[in-house]
Amino acid sequence: MYLCICNAISDRRVRDAVAAGARDWVAVHAHAGCQPNCGQCAADISDEIVKSATNLRTPSAPEAADVQPSEVLSAVRS
Ligand code: FES
Repeated sequence: MYLCICNAISDRRVRDAVAAGARDWVAVHAHAGCQPNCGQCAADISDEIVKSATNLRTPSAPEAADVQPSEVLSAVRS
């Protein structure tokens, strides 16, 4: 499912970006090789980041497990 219509970023691409270290919606766009445009996707991408980070909770991915929803919201609001 597309989360960012402007840049055709799907939920799968968000998960790939999170696995590669992206921790906010702007970083997800950078990982996809683009920049945010309208901003309508910020909340949906941030939600997917939190879900993806939760799913990455393994001993080999401790940084992903440390992403808290409040951190994502702060990044979106800045
Ligand atoms: S929908 Fe993502 S920048 Fe417009």
